[in-house]
Amino acid sequence: MKSVIDTTNSPSHTEDRPLVVLTSELRKVYSNGLFLNQKVVSLKSCSLVVYKGETFGLLGPNGAGKTTLLKLLLGILRPTSGRGLLLGKPLGDRSCKQRIGYLPENPYFYDCLTGWEFLQLAAGLFQIPQSVQNRRIPQLLELVGISQADARKKQMRRYSKGMLQRIGMAQALINDPEVVFLDEPMSGLDPVGRYQIREIILSLKAAGKTIFFNSHVLSEVELICDRIAILAQGKLICCGSLNELLGTPHSYHVQGQGGDCQILQKWLPNIEFKPDGLWQGELQGDVYDFFASLHLMGGQILAMKLFRPSLEEFFIQQLQQHKI
Ligand SMILES: Nc1ncnc2c1ncn2[C@@H]1O[C@H](COP(=O)(O)OP(=O)(O)O)[C@@H](O)[C@H]1O
Ligand SMILES: [Mg+2]
Repeated sequence: MKSVIDTTNSPSHTEDRPLVVLTSELRKVYSNGLFLNQKVVSLKSCSLVVYKGETFGLLGPNGAGKTTLLKLLLGILRPTSGRGLLLGKPLGDRSCKQRIGYLPENPYFYDCLTGWEFLQLAAGLFQIPQSVQNRRIPQLLELVGISQADARKKQMRRYSKGMLQRIGMAQALINDPEVVFLDEPMSGLDPVGRYQIREIILSLKAAGKTIFFNSHVLSEVELICDRIAILAQGKLICCGSLNELLGTPHSYHVQGQGGDCQILQKWLPNIEFKPDGLWQGELQGDVYDFFASLHLMGGQILAMKLFRPSLEEFFIQQLQQHKI
């Protein structure tokens, strides 16, 4: 199968890294309307790879096709055309289900159940023996930061949005999956809630799990993902590691005070001058020569950091380039 699947959209594809997801020209058209005559092309020939142990972020505006792609990978939807592999099996193969976990977007919980009962229900669906459940449920509660008292005594109708998302996360991990699919795990959460989900994802990553998640919380994606892809209007417009897409940090952003304006302008062509002799800009040239020159001018450096565009800037630029 490998030879017929095109993975050229992935700049960092190397043959020796084990693949978890491989898709080729995956396409999904929904048929709506009274006679199913209205067609919505939700995904257009999507080819991508996800490697074992990596955290992969799928980004895109609302309606881009992220959930559709995730459901195709999980076998919840069937592609209109194209094909793919998940853990080496064709998409939809039932034998994979034991090895994957899934947190849907806006999950629906039986809110009359306690968190504990909900996890027992999920464990039952995987036919996990009672003795394993008794060990695993408290471990998962600890991982997602829900106390045993809240899990055992509180019905989920009394959980906050953050707690619901975290119990949903525990549910996605109940079968100790190798691959975890998370659809917008941070959406609608406050900064503390986002931080908690990020910490859970990072501990899964440290445990060697492969994580595939959809998101438009770009600042979080930038902190946790090894590779990302951007989907827009059903089309995959780029895919790669942050260094491949944003470039390795190569120049310095410098803030300082004092010195000769004309000489400074040569070193920092986009320099911005501020009151009290303060200035800031992006350094062009050798950093040690600049230090020496600044010293001679009697100026000083107040702050300095490596510069590259943020993921947000890159994302907006990509959408503009593709006229989206
Ligand atoms: N069941 C469906 N029937 C018809 N159109 C759908 C269905 N599900 C999604 N779509 C359409 O497919 C496109 C992509 O949707 P979706 O995959 O949910 O995007 P995202 O998750 O990126 O917000 C949207 O235009 C959406 O309206
Ligand atoms: Mg979605």
